Amino acid sequence: MSQILVVVGSLRRESFNRQLAEALVKLAPSDVTFKFAEIADLPLYNQDDDANQAEPVKRLKAAISASDGVLFVTPEYNRSVPGVLKNAIDHASRPYGQSAWAGKPAGVIGASIGSIGSALAQQHLRNILAYLDMPTLGQPEAFIHVKDGLFTEDGQVGEGSREFLQGWMDAFLAWVSKHVSKHG
Ligand code: FNR
Repeated sequence: MSQILVVVGSLRRESFNRQLAEALVKLAPSDVTFKFAEIADLPLYNQDDDANQAEPVKRLKAAISASDGVLFVTPEYNRSVPGVLKNAIDHASRPYGQSAWAGKPAGVIGASIGSIGSALAQQHLRNILAYLDMPTLGQPEAFIHVKDGLFTEDGQVGEGSREFLQGWMDAFLAWVSKHVSKHG
């Protein structure tokens, strides 16, 4: 049984990435539990506050610590990760030496209305996660191009992408399990 923290890099009400995250959760076996990180109420990161982190920051760090792995689902903003996602990552990486991310296995996936499906944002995110010492699933990569039919009306992955995304989710969960059994 694993507990996965899902971090969605968009705050938009109708976010495709949130829909993707919610559809991915439905592809997992029932013994895997998911929690969605709340990042909308985090203050802007300010190093002056490291010794006195705000409650939402403490809450995020506790959620990361309680998880076996982290699933990042991100859009691409101007060829990189959205600021809200970077803000959350920076908060939980501090104070220096007390990063909540260190050692947590991660998966990176994302969707975009653009044809490269958030590939460059994902690549930037991989650099950040490498620095944070998060072992990150390398393959399969998943750059999801949002088109009609990607999701069904009831929020499942549409037929055209289901096999691929099922394979991605299976690989991600196996990655987390491998890491948990090695270190847990
Ligand atoms: C975008 N979008 C975008 N798409 C892309 O493929 N590459 C990019 O660099 C950008 N840049 C960008 C910047 C900003 C500020 C916005 C608001 C949007 C389009 C983006 O993929 C689209 O809005 C998605 O729908 C955002 O994801 P959510 O919110 O639907 O999850």
